Amino acid sequence: SAAEKGGYDYFMLKEIAEQPKAVADTLLGRIDNAGSLTLDEVRIPASVLREVDKVVIVACGTAYHAGMIAKLAIEHWTRIPCETELASEFRYRDPILDRRTLVIAISQSGETMDTLMALRHAREQGAKVLAICNTNGSTIPRESDAVLYTHAGPEVAVASTKAFLTQLVACYLVALYLGQVRGTKWGDEIRAVIRELASIAQDVDQVLETMEPVRELARSLADKDTVLFLGRHVGYPVALEGALKLKELAYMHAEGFAAGELKHGPIALIEQDLPVVVVVPSPRGRSVLHDKIVSNIQEIRARGARTIVIAEVGDETVVPYADHLIRIPATPTLLQPLVATVPLQVFACELATARGNEVDQPRNLAKSVTVE
Ligand code: AGP
Repeated sequence: SAAEKGGYDYFMLKEIAEQPKAVADTLLGRIDNAGSLTLDEVRIPASVLREVDKVVIVACGTAYHAGMIAKLAIEHWTRIPCETELASEFRYRDPILDRRTLVIAISQSGETMDTLMALRHAREQGAKVLAICNTNGSTIPRESDAVLYTHAGPEVAVASTKAFLTQLVACYLVALYLGQVRGTKWGDEIRAVIRELASIAQDVDQVLETMEPVRELARSLADKDTVLFLGRHVGYPVALEGALKLKELAYMHAEGFAAGELKHGPIALIEQDLPVVVVVPSPRGRSVLHDKIVSNIQEIRARGARTIVIAEVGDETVVPYADHLIRIPATPTLLQPLVATVPLQVFACELATARGNEVDQPRNLAKSVTVE
């Protein structure tokens, strides 16, 4: 009903708008006054976490994209080798797992059959399983050794939005907590990022307030057949997520690529007026990657692409090459997906509407996939 949708036309719009609150709620009570993380609720003793020598993340769809970003955060802040794998592939390849492996299963619904089967397989091999889940008491957390709940509230729209942002927050919390418990050389950075996280909901809110040009752009592209998405590092999973949203909602051919792979094939797809969304890393910090992506933008634009550039406020280097420029607030590198994904959600939702598609219930899809 209209009341359930809180005045929005679709649950998806309501859920996109709820993201600042969802993010804040997922952080609530997990950072103490001294700026340290308190994840006692996870109930895996610090002594066990200190012994972990490998992390394996399993998930599907959007949750898998959160897992790809989590891998980068975990390896950077903890130096523990981490791999992220599609839950649907995991148990069919005889993965190497033992008592010192921490498996993280990410699932909004907690009922995804592929993810459940992957975690059962992991536990049979003696690995400890931590679930990151949005649904209290669902099967995946019930069958895991521990759970960190995301507090997104119920997500009704089939296309995941606020659950994704809160999965990212939960992943960062786990990564930072592992770093904190194990005392890596990144201690100062970990403390600084925890401080940034505490105010990240405001950044998400700021992005939401500037989305009208993105909606306008989406409407202008309603008769296109293809949209490509490029990113690097954390921007690569963001590109994949942007493409997934567009497939699900707009039924368009959409693909995400790691921008460094362009020359290895995908650049052949570029033709006159093809919309290409590029997620640009911050010019601060990892500036090497920033400069590489700016040259990628130049390369594709020289071949006719219509460039839709998502870049940090104040990054002027991209201006000459951006046919459309979407600004996002400055964040630490690893946190950028929290702000960079939001315009892509809005973009896909508006394109779906413009194409006359059912936003909350896309064809052929179910909210949770409880069969293999
Ligand atoms: C995303 O928009 C999806 N509809 C889908 O990819 C989803 O993220 C995936 O099926 C996993 O669901 P889960 O988080 O409930 O396990």
